[in-house]
Amino acid sequence: MKTRLDRWLSLLGVCSRSEAKDLIRKGAVQLNGQTVRDPGAEADTESDALLLRNQPLDGRVTRHVMLHKPAGLLTAARDRKQPTVMDLLPAVYASIGCMPVGRLDKDTTGLLILTCDGEMNHRLLSPARHVDKVYEARVEGRLSGADIQAFMDGIPLADFTALPAQLEILSVDAKTSLARVTVREGKFHQVKRMFAARRHEVLTLHRLSFGPLTLPSDLPEGSWRELTPQELSLLRQAAGMTPPRPDGK
Ligand code: URA
Repeated sequence: MKTRLDRWLSLLGVCSRSEAKDLIRKGAVQLNGQTVRDPGAEADTESDALLLRNQPLDGRVTRHVMLHKPAGLLTAARDRKQPTVMDLLPAVYASIGCMPVGRLDKDTTGLLILTCDGEMNHRLLSPARHVDKVYEARVEGRLSGADIQAFMDGIPLADFTALPAQLEILSVDAKTSLARVTVREGKFHQVKRMFAARRHEVLTLHRLSFGPLTLPSDLPEGSWRELTPQELSLLRQAAGMTPPRPDGK
C-alpha cells in the first residue's frame, strides 16, 4: 500500500500522527537507507525498509492471522468491559485494522482467522459463499441416526431453516455424545441452536476448521501465528478472489 510516511508510522501504532511528523522532521526516520525529513513523503508499506531511531520496523500493514481461541474471550475488535481475542495479539494488529473473520461465542474454542483485508473478510462471511466450518461438539444426551438425518435434511429454527449439515457421531456414553459437525453457514449461535432443536444442549464447542484451513495441532490454546503464503492463497480462493491453482496449492 502506498501512503504518507507520517501516516505509515501512526498506522503501525508506534506513535501518533503528530509525533510521527516531529520524529520525521528531526531526522529520526530512514526510508530505504536514506533519512527522510518530509512527513508527506510517499512510502510503500510492503516493500520499503523503514528504520526508526536506527531500529528496523516491520512495516507490513496487511497481515493475516490464525488464532487458537481459548474460552472466555469475546470475538470482537474491541469491547469496553470484557477482554477480546485482540488482547492476545500485539497492539500493532489492532492498529492496522486486523479483524476477526466471523464470530466464535465466548465459550467456544478453536480456529479463528483474523485479517486486515476487509474485502476478503466480507466475502468469506457472505451468505452466498457457503464456506464450510467444522466443529467438534460435546452434547448432552445420546445422539442417534435420527439426528444425523435431521441435520442432513436441514433443521428448522425459529427464524430460518439451516442448510443441510453433516453430523458424524464420534462417541456416545451414558449421558453425553461427542460429534463432528460441518455447517456451511455462520448464523448467530447456529450450531448450539441446531443441537438445541434436537434437544441436545451443547456442553463444549470447538472449531476444527474454517474453509480450507485447519487448526494445526502445534498451535496451543491462546497462541497465534501469521498465515503462510500458501494458507493465504487458499483462503483467497475460498473467498472467490483468485482462481484455484492447477497444482491445488
Ligand atoms: N455456532 C455456535 O453456536 N457457536 C459458535 O461459537 C460457533 C458456531
